[in-house]
Amino acid sequence: MLNGKLDFRSDTITEPTEEMREAMARAKVGDDGREGDPTVRELEEYSAQLLGKEAALFVISGTMGNLVSILAHTRHGQEAILERDAHIFWTEVAGISAVGGLLVNRVAGTDGIMAPGDVEAAIRIAKLHFPETGLICLENTHNMAGGTVWTVAQMAAVKAVAGRHGIPLHLDGARIFNAAVALGVPAKEIAAQTDSATFCLSKGLSAPVGSIIVGTKNFIEVAKKKRQMLGGTTRQGGVIAAAGLVAVRTMIDRLAEDHALARRLAEKLSTIPGLEVNLRTVQTNIVRTTVSGLGVPAAKVAELLAAQNVYVLAQQADTLRWLTHRHVMAADADEAAVAMGKVAETLKR
Ligand SMILES: Cc1ncc(COP(=O)(O)O)c(C=O)c1O
Repeated sequence: MLNGKLDFRSDTITEPTEEMREAMARAKVGDDGREGDPTVRELEEYSAQLLGKEAALFVISGTMGNLVSILAHTRHGQEAILERDAHIFWTEVAGISAVGGLLVNRVAGTDGIMAPGDVEAAIRIAKLHFPETGLICLENTHNMAGGTVWTVAQMAAVKAVAGRHGIPLHLDGARIFNAAVALGVPAKEIAAQTDSATFCLSKGLSAPVGSIIVGTKNFIEVAKKKRQMLGGTTRQGGVIAAAGLVAVRTMIDRLAEDHALARRLAEKLSTIPGLEVNLRTVQTNIVRTTVSGLGVPAAKVAELLAAQNVYVLAQQADTLRWLTHRHVMAADADEAAVAMGKVAETLKR
């Protein structure tokens, strides 16, 4: 329950913890665009170590992290390979094309996981008329597929393809720690499979703002310049980075609770006539339910649920997305499932 609502729309609604608020108030700061902000630097160093990379860069959002990484890896006129339902394709305002100047080549995955052979087949051969493939992006966990997890071996198989062709590999790891917790491996094992990665502090980890890019020292130097070009240097950013430090130091392990709750919610929702829940894809903190059996668009179902104080996202015309996070408890999930059952019953009458 958050502000009196059963709010399952996103894990981005999570509010900073008391410890974060205190750390923000006490943060040592400097000018990030001059000699540097000590707290931002501490967060970057901690994050680089956590992800097993040489260096890291603090950015305002996951969207900015992906765009800065894309700009740092590629040149205008190249092509990037993305999974068909990648967040970068659907919901980053086409920055990859509008700002990055890239053509996008989408490869259909299974539950968001691309087969290495399909990625290889999408790589452009050297031909006068073709654009060059400049980048391959993976997403772990995969948002639109329902929070599905790429295993380390699946990522390694794509890494081998990228390596054979000399193409850089970027990970949109907005929820990399959900993947790490679900797989039971350190996040650095996941990040080791790609040249660069981004992750978000502001989703399940509950920081108010911020994401991190990791990669080699050289890559991060280039990324820093691109971030500046986009107006992303944060001056006394230590005030927000302080919350990010608390997030990476204390909030990762508890993601397992969100995963268990998503499973509980999914199982309850799957018993409601008219709803379809693909339990196979419920691997982390996301549950997707297809509502076409109820005879109305997902947006209408979301509206009826909101009238019952349950808030969900109509992610597609026929699909609702429910996300679990630290402001929803088992009793909240149970109450929401009961409300969903009532809405379904009303619609089926
Ligand atoms: C997979 C993925 N990548 C990137 C982003 C973008 O993050 P932000 O909202 O911080 O820009 C999101 C946000 O939901 C996401 O789910």
